[in-house]
Amino acid sequence: MARILITGGCGFVGRHLVARLAREGGHELWIIDDLSTGKPPAQWEVPRLRPLGEEGGVQRHELVGLDQQVRLIRADFVAVAQAELGMTPSLGLAPLPRFDEIYHLASVVGGRNVIDNDPLAVGIDLAVDSSFFLWAAKKARPERILYASSSAAYPIDLQEAGESRALREDDISFDKRLGLPDYTYGWSKLTGEYLGRIAHEKYGLSVGVVRPFSGYGEDQDVVYPFPAIALRVAARRDPVRVWGSGEQTRDFVHIDDACDACVLVCRGVRDARAFNIGTGTPTRFLDLAGRMVAIEGYDASVIGTAGKPVGVAERYSDSSRIRDELGWRPTIALDDGIGRALDYARGRLERGIEPDM
Ligand SMILES: NC(=O)c1ccc[n+]([C@@H]2O[C@H](COP(=O)([O-])OP(=O)(O)OC[C@H]3O[C@@H](n4cnc5c(N)ncnc54)[C@H](O)[C@@H]3O)[C@@H](O)[C@H]2O)c1
Repeated sequence: MARILITGGCGFVGRHLVARLAREGGHELWIIDDLSTGKPPAQWEVPRLRPLGEEGGVQRHELVGLDQQVRLIRADFVAVAQAELGMTPSLGLAPLPRFDEIYHLASVVGGRNVIDNDPLAVGIDLAVDSSFFLWAAKKARPERILYASSSAAYPIDLQEAGESRALREDDISFDKRLGLPDYTYGWSKLTGEYLGRIAHEKYGLSVGVVRPFSGYGEDQDVVYPFPAIALRVAARRDPVRVWGSGEQTRDFVHIDDACDACVLVCRGVRDARAFNIGTGTPTRFLDLAGRMVAIEGYDASVIGTAGKPVGVAERYSDSSRIRDELGWRPTIALDDGIGRALDYARGRLERGIEPDM
């Protein structure tokens, strides 16, 4: 039994991680989330939450069907950390207990559109991450930390059209070479990784870092490409449009596999080394949409769309480190993930959610 905190636990990764940890059973699960972009408990689908009451700013919820509870503090993590550190007046919350594991996921993400068109949104991420590691090192002293970085931390010159290769963890070296990460979002993740390394080296904390590639899942917000394209296909669009030329590739990994990897890295890595979470297979957006059309079982052409943000040309993972050191392998094949996403997209259509194009 472990006492586990998930910052940003109402977000996409967080909700699936809560379900994953609840299925292990016996843990005391906590979330701190300001719900700035996360789903309020009443809207969770997997797992569903039933409110049990609130005391001292901590809401208790039952995870329906899982015989577990989760405690939610709805607050800005920066405010919580700074109050705990005595830097600002108390928020009126009881002091947080000591945690065995902390999965630090709170951040502003929002997909390519936010990355390209609101690049200072990561100012919040930098504040959250710096407050997090300060609080972890000087106050919280948890047994283990998982920091969610991103494949966006990798140098973009390794991801150019025709010249890319599978990205290896050692392509980023804080001692030798960093390269230019993917815009401000990549910089913030790189900075978070560096703080995690310092938290380990100078403050003795156990830190594991993950660099997820393109995590997807059926209930992901439709600002992300996978569920957005699934919605267009479920609505039987013809042609099906994808952003940019559609030649750009990504490494799509299902959220359930990604959560397994997060738990393995949190429990198996102490020295702030990073581990990719990806399948190792690059998929062009044109091909992703084409597979979706084939699985949906109708005829449609797939075409690109000019004037949309596209990001790097080719991005995929070398997954040998996490496979060889921790025994992780993806278990959900892309076609299965597509099938789930299409089922879910049909439900979205029934609820009146329309494709964007
Ligand atoms: N989803 C992916 O494929 C993917 C890929 C690479 C990296 N990551 C990283 O994983 C983490 C989680 O990603 P996600 O897809 O679940 O994002 P998300 O946007 O769905 O969830 C982030 C959560 O953080 C919360 N949050 C934001 N600011 C906060 C604050 N100041 N205080 C408290 N809570 C706050 C939001 O309300 C939200 O619930 C992020 O750090 C992201 O960079 C995710």
